[in-house]
Amino acid sequence: MSGLIDIMSSQQGVLPNGESPARPVPKVLNAAARLVDSLKINSTFQQVQHGRPVVIKRRRVYSEALADLANVYFRVARIPIHFWAKTEDWRRWEVKCFNMLNGDRFRARSSGANTVRADKLPGRTMWDYLINSTLTSQMMEAAARELRRAHRLWSDEFRGPWSHGDACMPNVIYDENTGRARLIDFEIVHKKSLGAKPRHADDVLVFLLDVLAVAPNPQWLPLALAFLKAYDHAPVLAQLKKDLALPTGMAWIWWGVRTSFANPAKVKRRLQKIAGVLADLEHYRAFAGERARNTRRASITCHKTKPGIPRINSRTRAIKESAKAASPGIPSRLPTRTYPPS
Ligand SMILES: Nc1ncnc2c1ncn2[C@@H]1O[C@H](COP(=O)(O)OP(=O)(O)OP(=O)(O)O)[C@@H](O)[C@H]1O
Ligand SMILES: [Mg+2]
Repeated sequence: MSGLIDIMSSQQGVLPNGESPARPVPKVLNAAARLVDSLKINSTFQQVQHGRPVVIKRRRVYSEALADLANVYFRVARIPIHFWAKTEDWRRWEVKCFNMLNGDRFRARSSGANTVRADKLPGRTMWDYLINSTLTSQMMEAAARELRRAHRLWSDEFRGPWSHGDACMPNVIYDENTGRARLIDFEIVHKKSLGAKPRHADDVLVFLLDVLAVAPNPQWLPLALAFLKAYDHAPVLAQLKKDLALPTGMAWIWWGVRTSFANPAKVKRRLQKIAGVLADLEHYRAFAGERARNTRRASITCHKTKPGIPRINSRTRAIKESAKAASPGIPSRLPTRTYPPS
């Protein structure tokens, strides 16, 4: 989220690499931006250690108090996430998640009381691509595949599948050389009481909101669709459809953060479009499922038979007996019951 915060806390807006974004951020957002900036509880910087680029993430002195305060807000606004308030808890979770997701090639470790040192992942954040208008459907697919992979991993913390809790685009790094997306930044976590499906749908929504808020017409829709199609998990997409309503009450502030304070009417329109797409997808799946159920397929099950003379089952016997009848109208067997003459 730091990219977003950096942009919003300056009037003109500055990208992490020092460039200005395509559109300046309106002045009226500065008050809200300052509030958001106050949620910045870490400082992050890069170093080269033993010839390897690393990112050092350090908790600020007042971070625990700030995280506690933010958590009060989340509780009151009924937003089912929270910051790891205790530095020790955050360090443990940040290192654990980074290594679980990226440990095939990269490592993170605790370093000192309030610091995490992680290998710098190659590539740039998806947010960088988004605001430079260089985001492609291929990148969106890579992000969806990574999120889906992560959602399949077991988490002891949740006693169920893992979820991110803050899966916005600044927290997804895409490497153009490998076509691989990776997740970072694990200081926010979903409430444990929330089931896996709503947690996963929330991750999908948070990621999509960046596109819906920032990507221009007409690109936003194909980008969003590429993401949903590659995520490809019907139960979570069905849950997402239910979670597309705009927030009410105090949840608006966080919604503003999630959508870069974009025009709510625009975001609403785009969410409605996504809802329509998801409904079509559900109908299509239901229709495809119905057709599959109605199509009789050849049996591929082998039945056990006894060696020797095959047994004639009752159906075969009945067919044979009806064939022996004098004519189709005359039964070969006499009726066993007699009826009084009418
Ligand atoms: N391991 C990493 N490899 C590459 N870049 C990283 C890595 N960790 C952090 N970064 C860069 O630093 C930025 C900030 O890091 P991170 O998201 O972990 O913390 P944060 O932004 O301070 O937290 P928040 O998102 O809550 O503000 C990221 O958006 C990314 O650009
Ligand atoms: Mg971040």
